[in-house]
Amino acid sequence: MNKRLIIGNWKMNPSTLDEAKRIIRSMRIVATKLEHTQVVACPPYLYISNCISKKSNSVSIGSQTVSIQEGGAHTGEISPAMLKDIGVQYVIVGHSEQRASGDSDEIVSKRIIATVEAGMKAVVCIGENVRDEQGVYLDTLKDQIKRTFAGIQSKYARDIIIVYEPVWAIGAKEAMAPEQVYETSLFVKKVFSDIFSQESAMKVKVLYGGSVNFRNAGDIIRIGKVDGLLVGRESVNIPGLKELLKAVDVVVL
Ligand code: PGA
Repeated sequence: MNKRLIIGNWKMNPSTLDEAKRIIRSMRIVATKLEHTQVVACPPYLYISNCISKKSNSVSIGSQTVSIQEGGAHTGEISPAMLKDIGVQYVIVGHSEQRASGDSDEIVSKRIIATVEAGMKAVVCIGENVRDEQGVYLDTLKDQIKRTFAGIQSKYARDIIIVYEPVWAIGAKEAMAPEQVYETSLFVKKVFSDIFSQESAMKVKVLYGGSVNFRNAGDIIRIGKVDGLLVGRESVNIPGLKELLKAVDVVVL
């Protein structure tokens, strides 16, 4: 069985290095006991080195974004090669919070290429801002996926993980209903298949993100039939995260 992938997006949390170390230590302890679940933590850049362990690989490390530049005079930027060199394996790309602060589909596309060319997996977020009864959001979603993957060579499809993350469900009270997660993630796969190939679409992991917590995670995996979850708030809340990981790990499909 393919392992379920749980990716924690810490965003701009926690506010101290000590707390970051505490979170990653606790994550490792729980992750070691999981059978069917692979765990990835994406701390802020500053904490990444402290979260990478030479001794334990139970939690892989990802970054929350990456520069499209290779190096040189780019103040404030971190290159793909730098991340790869210190042991980063995943990069979140196209998160709606990054899109809101200026990442166009074209830039997202460049970040995907920069990530996979450096030998890391690109965790690509897509999702509609609003949902309507008429289904216009499906066209919006399709266009966004097409633009995001337009310039990507098909050989890179295997290094892409898609996160279907409806923007209206991020930081909200409730996640999307698992039945809707199922329908929309199938739709996302279909569009991916039209862009790359049916074979790529069969292999690509599609995750769900948006207000996932320990209460709803199991159902989203079981009924939503997604390959994993991108978790925001609950990923830095250790008691909740422990329960979430256990709930996901025991789902039998
Ligand atoms: P949330 O964030 O789980 O706090 O809604 C998810 C995300 O933005 O990736």
